[in-house]
Amino acid sequence: MPLEEELFPSTPGKFKDRNRHVHRCFASTSTIFLWALFLIAITASYLCFRSLVDGGNQYFSKHNWSKQIFESAKIRRTHGMSVLVTGAAGFVGSHVSIALKKRGDGVVGLDNFNDYYDVSLKKARKNLLSENSVFIVEGDINDMKLLVRLFEIAKFTHVMHLAAQAGVRYAMENPNSYIHSNIAGLVTLLEVCKNVPIQPAVVWASSSSVYGLNEKVPFSESDRTDQPASLYAATKKAGEEITHTYNHIYGLSITGLRFFTVYGPWGRPDMAYFSFTRNILQGKPITIYRAKNRVDLARDFTYIDDVVKGCIGSLDTSGKSTGSGGKKRGPAPYRIFNLGNTSPVTVPMMVGMLEKNLKVKAKKNFVVMPGNGDVPFTHANITSARKAFGYKPATDLQTGLKKFVRWYLSYYGYNQGKL
Ligand SMILES: NC(=O)c1ccc[n+]([C@@H]2O[C@H](COP(=O)([O-])OP(=O)(O)OC[C@H]3O[C@@H](n4cnc5c(N)ncnc54)[C@H](O)[C@@H]3O)[C@@H](O)[C@H]2O)c1
Repeated sequence: MPLEEELFPSTPGKFKDRNRHVHRCFASTSTIFLWALFLIAITASYLCFRSLVDGGNQYFSKHNWSKQIFESAKIRRTHGMSVLVTGAAGFVGSHVSIALKKRGDGVVGLDNFNDYYDVSLKKARKNLLSENSVFIVEGDINDMKLLVRLFEIAKFTHVMHLAAQAGVRYAMENPNSYIHSNIAGLVTLLEVCKNVPIQPAVVWASSSSVYGLNEKVPFSESDRTDQPASLYAATKKAGEEITHTYNHIYGLSITGLRFFTVYGPWGRPDMAYFSFTRNILQGKPITIYRAKNRVDLARDFTYIDDVVKGCIGSLDTSGKSTGSGGKKRGPAPYRIFNLGNTSPVTVPMMVGMLEKNLKVKAKKNFVVMPGNGDVPFTHANITSARKAFGYKPATDLQTGLKKFVRWYLSYYGYNQGKL
């Protein structure tokens, strides 16, 4: 009876032994299983806890992250301010951050290091900021959790908002990048600013491009701005309206700055004076746009140090936001200023200055300006900024370009000019 023997072994002990073996086996498997379950539960709760604490953001878990922000935001002078500078790895942002830090204000930078132009230049600016004890957080202004966390760590008194998708022609290639940074990102930032218990004052970069197709010169802040010539200009104009809403509903102190063609050391490679320098050094031709009837384009080129002074003057005189936790408690300042140089120079004249400084003749290609967003001229009336905070540009184009070329050659070298 082999089957029965198997089911009912002849010796009970044998049966008992096998039963115990099976039981022991089962017991140890279930113990392992229980332990595994326990470990999984512990790991899951830990991860859950981390994500609650961190908001699930990759940045927060980085070693020393909060401490670096806290230190960088520390105010080191009487009546100083603590400023969140967005776009701090950018041209204007890096200069403003260093200037604020040097006078003892707390500064924390925020930048997403996008590749609109050479990222290594942004990284080099970041290193420069680091040498000046300014910490830059790598992140996007659309990341609300990140912004909230930054405001928890550092109680910013001011926001200098310079992060944006800049450039006029690139909008035909990548229009959504302008919506992402200049519209959606701006709203996310303002949402966070209006929600915090002590609202910061916000100073942000609009642009002279809002004057669009206007022909009356010089451009004054009260002139019409409803004829943008590019999507970039339209997003900056939208920014002026959006910031007005946040001022009106939530009591945020707002200052919009209309920059006029800012240039100088550590500048933006996509701008004409910069790419012309590179091409002239490399012996390549440069394309110079002209308006119809062979009229030269002209720009109110503004040297970076003057713009930095304008930004800091705006921060110093911004006045307080009145709201708290999303509730307005009274009217707050809403201001808009031109930050220009008040002396436009034609593009061929600018090229002549570059040739002189580089000691190389440019190969010029004159082309009729295509309808891609550029305007024929810009010219700022700066009376309002002068009255409000003594804004007085001090560097003419000749002097400013000399400084730019000196920087360019020290950074890229004479023969390289590579980007
Ligand atoms: N330079 C000029 O001549 C000029 C003229 C008019 C207006 N502006 C405005 O001034 C500001 C600064 O200009 P800039 O010349 O220094 O430009 P920039 O491109 O050098 O600096 C902008 C920085 O913002 C960062 N950035 C972009 N989108 C971001 C996002 N979504 N989140 C986080 N960071 C983001 C970029 O990586 C960049 O480093 C911009 O708002 C620009 O539109 C500049």
